[in-house]
Amino acid sequence: MAVAARILMMRLVILMARMVDVVRSMDTVATPLNSPSPAPAAPNPGIFKVVGQSGVPAMHAGLMPNGRVIFLDKVENYTQIKLPDGQYAYSAEYDPATNTVAGLQYATNAFCSGGAFLADGRWVSLGGNAPLAFIDPTVGDGFTAIRYLNRSSTDASLDGSNWSEPGNKLSTARWYATAQTMPDGTVFVASGSLNGLDPSVPANNNPTYEILNTEGISSGKSIPLKILEKNQPYYMYPFVHLLNNGDLFIFVSKSAEVFNVEGNQTVTALPDLPGDFRTYPNTGGSVLLPLSSANDWAPEIVICGGGAYQDITSPTDPSCGSVQPLSDNPTWAMESMPGGRGMVEATLLPDGTIIWVNGCNQGAQGFGLATASTLEALIYDPTKAVGQRFSTGSSSTIARLYHSCALLLLDGTLMVVGSNPVQMPVLTPVPNQTPSEDYVTEFRVEIYTPPYLQDNAQRPTNVVLSSLSLTANGSPFIVVFNAPTGNTVCKVVLYHGGYVTHSLHMNHRMLFLDNTGYVSGATMQTLTVTMPPNNNVAQPGPYVIYVTCGGVPAIGQFVMVS
Ligand SMILES: *[C@@H]1O[C@H](CO)[C@@H](O)[C@H](O)[C@H]1NC(C)=O
Ligand SMILES: *[C@@H]1O[C@H](CO)[C@@H](O)[C@H](O)[C@H]1NC(C)=O
Ligand SMILES: *[C@@H]1O[C@H](CO)[C@@H](O)[C@H](O)[C@H]1NC(C)=O
Ligand SMILES: *[C@@H]1O[C@H](CO)[C@@H](O)[C@H](O)[C@H]1NC(C)=O
Repeated sequence: MAVAARILMMRLVILMARMVDVVRSMDTVATPLNSPSPAPAAPNPGIFKVVGQSGVPAMHAGLMPNGRVIFLDKVENYTQIKLPDGQYAYSAEYDPATNTVAGLQYATNAFCSGGAFLADGRWVSLGGNAPLAFIDPTVGDGFTAIRYLNRSSTDASLDGSNWSEPGNKLSTARWYATAQTMPDGTVFVASGSLNGLDPSVPANNNPTYEILNTEGISSGKSIPLKILEKNQPYYMYPFVHLLNNGDLFIFVSKSAEVFNVEGNQTVTALPDLPGDFRTYPNTGGSVLLPLSSANDWAPEIVICGGGAYQDITSPTDPSCGSVQPLSDNPTWAMESMPGGRGMVEATLLPDGTIIWVNGCNQGAQGFGLATASTLEALIYDPTKAVGQRFSTGSSSTIARLYHSCALLLLDGTLMVVGSNPVQMPVLTPVPNQTPSEDYVTEFRVEIYTPPYLQDNAQRPTNVVLSSLSLTANGSPFIVVFNAPTGNTVCKVVLYHGGYVTHSLHMNHRMLFLDNTGYVSGATMQTLTVTMPPNNNVAQPGPYVIYVTCGGVPAIGQFVMVS
């Protein structure tokens, strides 16, 4: 009886939401392109909660195969952790199971680096900035650095081990580079500044790419990339997504293309995305929507937010464009967030929705250049029609501006960390400073519990995979688990979180895997799951398998995909 009443209520709520949507879509016909569009409140908004301290400012972050999160920062004159040698730690390993953190040592300044997982499972951080010997003489020049970190789901002896830098270097200096692991396990590394100075001076820019081999060693050649040359000064930290034909989607400024790496050529120049600038120093966020066999793994990319110029007075853009870059005639479908937003970032969630968090309503990237922090989570449902996809989740109380991150954990919650929008850590606001010190260095670690884990949601349990080593060649594997009572639809998700920094989630992707054997309503489930057909769809490296029932994920498990 209670259940029936709840279902009836839910149907009513959905019906009302649809009516609101109809009214909204009638409204939006008349509204100009980049004006905000209100998003209805999500029925379950999710919950933000502070759980710990990050130890170091969380400029870059990634979930490792040991279930822990690595934070990576630049050289600072203060962090919360000192290494045994007496110097501050600028990297740390955070254990979400205990909310404790330990310092890690690195050899070169990782300030605004890019990165990726290698096919062998190691995480690499690429490029960075000059040493600051007067602060820390033990840390060297990071401009051409390649830093390696090895963590394992099966070998706990690696936990807490430092970054390794055997001396391999990038072929050219790269500060603000983007990296994408390719289907063959090589790594495409693009863009960056040569010396950390003004990107409006062309001589400072490195509008090239280079390729690392599967061991993360550079070919030693930097190759000009026209889209980066053309779009200076808005060419750093490009958005890059691997497409299912093996080509790359590359986006900087307002400009997008499909690029073939092997042929070193632009395959398709896409139309410009209407609106403001979308990449550094007015970045928005970019996400490759969940992939599935239903449409032959066809990619669709959504880019939201941005801004007009690099100053604290810059307006921010509420609009989002989505595009299918490999379709016959790719065009941007436009929709809007409830307000303008810069430094907003998208994280895929295992129920197939996308969560957008962090950022500001005014200003830009840079020290002291942002104000009017945007605190609410926006939930984006790509299964709905464009224009009806956003709903509003709950709000944090913590500003997450320049140098903040968000990423999904094994338990299906979202970690939200960082914000260090000042040159060196400031712990309490100092009013009336230029650049602004109204917003300070933020060490608090928050967990956002998404809607699907609210209301005592029942997770699938006892997940056992037939192998932790999977091949992207259409081969099957078996997943055994207990489904919660009254389960409806259970799915298997293959998830890669990637390298998170500056609102980019490099290499981030998620696939719904085909499966058979599901027995409706049964507790014991044995599914035969089909791996994706090739590495264009899933580049090699570590992934998490989430089994979801009714969108509620089991605790994820790391696998290696080759
Ligand atoms: C990383 O650690 C794993 C597990 O101990 C080991 O098998 C592998 O060889 C290591 N990788 C490198 C490149 O050292
Ligand atoms: C990491 O580096 C620090 C500082 O050099 C050193 O004291 C520590 O022993 C290293 N940790 C490990 C696990 O090797
Ligand atoms: C790649 O293409 C660019 C033009 O976009 C050209 O300048 C460069 O010489 C080419 N490099 C190689 C190695 O083919
Ligand atoms: C760090 O440097 C800033 C100047 O950038 C200074 O105001 C602050 O006092 C320094 N903090 C420490 C702990 O030395």
